[in-house]
Amino acid sequence: KFCDFVKIVEVGPRDGLQNEKKILGHSIKIELINRLSMTGLKTIETTSFVSPKWIPQMEDNVKVLQGIDKKSGVDYPVLVPNLKGLDNAIKAGAKEIAVFGAASESFSQKNINCSIGESIKRFKEIIIKAREAKIKVRGYVSCIAGCPYEGDTKPSIIANISASMLELGCYEISLGDTIGVGTPKKIITVLNEMKNVSVSRKLQEFAIHCHNTYGQALANIYASLDCGIRVFDSSIAGLGGCPYAAGASGNVATEDLLYLLHGESLTTGVDLKKIIDIGDWISKELNKENQSKVGVALLAK
Ligand code: HMG
Ligand code: MG
Repeated sequence: KFCDFVKIVEVGPRDGLQNEKKILGHSIKIELINRLSMTGLKTIETTSFVSPKWIPQMEDNVKVLQGIDKKSGVDYPVLVPNLKGLDNAIKAGAKEIAVFGAASESFSQKNINCSIGESIKRFKEIIIKAREAKIKVRGYVSCIAGCPYEGDTKPSIIANISASMLELGCYEISLGDTIGVGTPKKIITVLNEMKNVSVSRKLQEFAIHCHNTYGQALANIYASLDCGIRVFDSSIAGLGGCPYAAGASGNVATEDLLYLLHGESLTTGVDLKKIIDIGDWISKELNKENQSKVGVALLAK
């Protein structure tokens, strides 16, 4: 039997905003993160220390990371692609980072401008230095259910990269369905392959990161729960996307994920009502329709 507690990694301030055309002021981002910190969430991905030429929305990373009220018991990880990003993140006071790779050569080139092999070398340098600085490192592997440039990706490649990243010192690997093409059968196949590299054989080192482009995110999450996954990434109001994954829409909405998990009698410690209010507010700030079905339904009541 798997445990009844599910951890949610809120990626709205990072994944949710990185592809938004409208550049939000840092004070709005700070308000977003501060409000999310009051909902019971224990991990809020805050910003990225990537090149502002590649991702202009994250240019204010220092202001955001230094401007938020860091609530005790909440982690505020930031994305880091190279040593320059790590140095900047350390200077800005980051205590946790995430490195990000992919199961597809083309996506790796488009997203971080290097091959998979080179990316592993970079991760090694980053992780050694991060651990010296007592910084925790999470890892992402993108394109686990398909790549926007190459189509299908192989579970064995996903497993190899995940194994390398775990060996280098990532405490968890978040498996990203970057373009939301997966269906439960595919996700279960991938997760079964991951059991071979999971030290516990129970997938305790893995999380799932579902984009909802094809509306399959909750089905895939439900299937992952059955396989033992107990950490899910999601984004307030279903915001999200990646500029290097054309057509990729938002992440699964945190509101929708909470509704599913609570309906299944699983515990998250997160207050759905507060999350819905934040989702409504940030959607208005972005002049966007709220992409959470649960948010829209409960706000209309
Ligand atoms: P590059 O152009 O090869 O880097 O980019 P470079 O080392 O040749 O440097 C070029 C310029 O960028 C230089 O400036 C550097 O100083 C600067 P210049 O001399 O031209 O003025 N630079 C930086 N500036 C600030 N911070 C840095 C940094 N590094 C270099 N860290 C690089 C390589 C990796 C930097 C670039 O490709 C990049 O920033 N990529 C990030 C792309 C990104 O953020 N993608 C979205 C996140 S991943 C995602 O969304 C997927 C995920 O959600 C999971 C899923 O859904 O599957 C995680
Ligand atoms: Mg993503």
